[in-house]
Amino acid sequence: MGTEEQTETGGVATANDTLTITDNRTGKTYEVPVEDGTIRATALRDIKVNESDFGVMSYDPAFMNTASCRSAVTYLDGENGVLEYRGYPIEQLAEHSTYLEVAYLLVHGELPNAKQLDEWTNKITTHTFVHENVKSFIQGFRYDAHPMGMLLASVGALSTFYPDANQIKDPEIRYLQIIRLIAKMPTLAAFAYRHNMGQPYVYPDNDLRYPGNFLSMLFKMSELKYEPDPRLERALDILFILHADHEQNCSTSAVRAVGSSQVDPYSAVAAGIAALYGPLHGGANEQVLRMLRRIERKENVPDFIAGVKEGKERLMGFGHRVYKNYDPRAKIIKKACDDVFEVTGVNPLLEIAMELEKIALEDEYFVKRKLYPNVDFYSGLIYEALHMPVGMFTVLFAIPRTSGWISQWLEMIDDKEQKIARPRQIYTGERNRDYIPLDKR
Ligand SMILES: CC(C)(COP(=O)(O)OP(=O)(O)OC[C@H]1O[C@@H](n2cnc3c(N)ncnc32)[C@H](O)[C@@H]1OP(=O)(O)O)[C@@H](O)C(=O)NCCC(=O)NCCS
Repeated sequence: MGTEEQTETGGVATANDTLTITDNRTGKTYEVPVEDGTIRATALRDIKVNESDFGVMSYDPAFMNTASCRSAVTYLDGENGVLEYRGYPIEQLAEHSTYLEVAYLLVHGELPNAKQLDEWTNKITTHTFVHENVKSFIQGFRYDAHPMGMLLASVGALSTFYPDANQIKDPEIRYLQIIRLIAKMPTLAAFAYRHNMGQPYVYPDNDLRYPGNFLSMLFKMSELKYEPDPRLERALDILFILHADHEQNCSTSAVRAVGSSQVDPYSAVAAGIAALYGPLHGGANEQVLRMLRRIERKENVPDFIAGVKEGKERLMGFGHRVYKNYDPRAKIIKKACDDVFEVTGVNPLLEIAMELEKIALEDEYFVKRKLYPNVDFYSGLIYEALHMPVGMFTVLFAIPRTSGWISQWLEMIDDKEQKIARPRQIYTGERNRDYIPLDKR
């Protein structure tokens, strides 16, 4: 027996890193290697009752306990509230970095030096414009089209503007699409917003920084130059940093699975946007706002909380599937929230939210269950303070998540162990039925 050491997954590694499995159907024993606290599912295939047997499979709906890849992009430890991009704690990045620098870090694996950051920023800034036909494409949507649907369609459509994007094995071509995706996402998002508002589209202003330019494309009216409030710009930058990646979540897995067919990155990212569109993924902050509207007045908060404690409904924006002690992103964003309110003021909905937060953080029910406000609680409030329609909330999530999706996609493309994603099934249907003519059924 060798010396024992704690593995990354919390298990104890010994020199005998194997699992002994006895198949009680045959009495045979198998030794399966354990690496990084994991066994290879394909190792189970050797376990058969006879030669013609397919071998044992693992059944894991919703991938509750299946690692689908090796990844060096994002580290997440829900129990201890840790989130790191490429090893850097989210708290430090949110305090000292910018979203564009973080995007560089995610894509390249290292923080840029000054020259690299300059070049990267310059490249992203000079690719913010979209082809004029994209504008007419967005114009073709109904006035009330959901902005997430417009974003999904227009990102997918980008593949038709850059047909060489399907050359995913060419590092230079690939890199150009990464730049384009990160650069054009705010433009597409802002066009979708202006379309809903019935306002003319605003072209990118390359003098502004990434978040400032986005604010300009959203809110610029007749003024010659839009001057973003630095506090709003910084708050948006922090929100973007916090949402840039979250390891193998639903949309990232969608990007990887679709990308594994070797389709172009626009189509793969469109799949990620489609996944994010779902209410169980990107839509939670929207639910926070709907809840606040239902509560209506600050005076109704105690009754609402009483209903939650009786199990009638949930306090949206509280609790998290992975972060059981606290959501590290929520701590950071709370501060950004205060800065935004300083600029925008606090409207009655925000007053309700602050009252909910105050009560819930002191109330025994929530304290005992470790239910803290999550990132969606505060991001919903910031978007509300910016007068964003709720449909835009998920779009604001998709913009920064693009750098995460594309970094994970890049990692997958270069991973020699990856192939086209193709899960197995346990077939539960009928077999060997004879076709019955229509008049006999
Ligand atoms: C995020 C969420 C789905 C995680 O759920 P989960 O990990 O399955 O947690 P559980 O459902 O096991 O909840 C544990 C306990 O806390 C309670 N609880 C969890 N979230 C709650 C909430 N938001 N409001 C009130 N009670 C809540 C559950 O009723 C349960 O209580 P019990 O032990 O008395 O039965 C859940 O907290 C939730 O629905 N939150 C609101 C929606 C939200 O903000 N989602 C965004 C997540 S980023």
